[in-house]
Amino acid sequence: MYYPWWYVPGLTAPMLIAIIAVVHVFVSHYAVGGGILIALENQFAIKTHDKSYRDYWYQHARFFVLLTVAFGAITGVGIWWTIALASPLATEMLIRTFVFGWAIEWVFFIVEIVAAFLMYYFWMRLPEKTHILIAWIYALAAWISLVLITGITAFMLDSRGLFAHWNETGNFWHAFFNIQFLPQTVIRTGAAILLAALYVFLHASWTFRNVGTAKTNNSNNSANNNSTNRELFDKIVRRMSRPLIFGIVTVLLGVVWWFVLLSPDVLLVMERSVLLNILLVLFFGLCGLITLLVILGPIMNPRSINVGFAVCLFIFGLAALGSAEFIREAVRKPWIVDQVVLGNQIYANEVAERQKTGFLRESHWQQLPTEKIQYGGMVFMYHCNNCHATDHGLSAVGPLLYGESKEKIAATIKNLNRPTLSMPPWSGTDEELDALAEFLLTIRPVENP
Ligand code: HEC
Repeated sequence: MYYPWWYVPGLTAPMLIAIIAVVHVFVSHYAVGGGILIALENQFAIKTHDKSYRDYWYQHARFFVLLTVAFGAITGVGIWWTIALASPLATEMLIRTFVFGWAIEWVFFIVEIVAAFLMYYFWMRLPEKTHILIAWIYALAAWISLVLITGITAFMLDSRGLFAHWNETGNFWHAFFNIQFLPQTVIRTGAAILLAALYVFLHASWTFRNVGTAKTNNSNNSANNNSTNRELFDKIVRRMSRPLIFGIVTVLLGVVWWFVLLSPDVLLVMERSVLLNILLVLFFGLCGLITLLVILGPIMNPRSINVGFAVCLFIFGLAALGSAEFIREAVRKPWIVDQVVLGNQIYANEVAERQKTGFLRESHWQQLPTEKIQYGGMVFMYHCNNCHATDHGLSAVGPLLYGESKEKIAATIKNLNRPTLSMPPWSGTDEELDALAEFLLTIRPVENP
């Protein structure tokens, strides 16, 4: 085989990727949307000579830079760590196809990080015009990095090109401008702005958590302070309801566009899966709930916003985004990279040949076991481990085979991609199939007599 296998007990490696990736998405989208909001509001505060409003955004920028740079970097590296171990072949293929895309991406990361530090550390010292410019450079660089990475992740779902088929031309641009590129860019841009506005609610309601309740007992001074803070907080809430609504509407339009362009295969996978149907309902339900809360709260009763409300809204936003990401990942099966790399760690065009000459290959990573059940176990690790745990854990195969005979198990493996659509075709010889079936018998729970 090309690489060693990697088994994450119980959780499975792809679920580990999913967890790290979703956490990363929560921060990386804020890095983009927050950049746009800071640029807009900083410029607005300067133009309207509102010093206290600008001071709030200075405070927010501190929270923003700390969170996005530190946490974004850690989780971003975490993604590379897991994908390189769990799906090395697909990772290699994506690097080869998009080598300049990654390179450009990293250049924009550098611009982003430098601009973020200049924006925050020189907030008070730079001339206003320069500061506006730097904030916009940050926002633009961050958004371009989102666009670049979206071209690559959208390609993994649907490799058909907008202008020409990448698999016929091998051209970088044909891969980058794939069918799902535009709708996914729209969805991610909307989600970035939506999420950033939710972070601002969270941060501002915490910062001003005492304005509504503080007793004005000591002096006139503190009473004055309190009411200016109250006005400032009201202003933040009022101004942030616009990006919230804009974000939700953009996400929903993007999702509809995404649906319209979905390939029939993917649509079928989605329609057949109960879990994905539930997640879809959850996603639209959460979007509706957020819209309702934004109308009832920030728009109609801006004074009702407190930390609890902001936390709820934030959690609903994360849940909506998380379920959308989960759906996008799940509908890709059996592919890791659409039409190119399969979930059993081989290229799609190798299946027929491996059915004749064998799925497992000796490599410098490992020797092939001579003992049959061990051999079957290794077939499992390459052919099934990317989606199933063994006997216990997520989508564990053992329980799925409860009570089945060896013949029945062998027949399931032989027709792995029929009638289920989410699994790659069986890609080994009959001897390998027999060894795998023997191994599966050892992890299958036995029927009570
Ligand atoms: C790319 C991901 C993927 C790989 C690789 C994969 N499966 Fe699956 N498998 C699934 C999914 C998803 C389902 C749920 C089926 C559905 O609802 O479409 C499933 C369902 C099953 C089931 C229960 C349904 C049935 O047809 O009986 C068994 C058994 C099973 N897989 C065994 C295996 C074995 C054995 C392997 C390795 C030879 C394997 N799977 C490889 C994704 C995968």
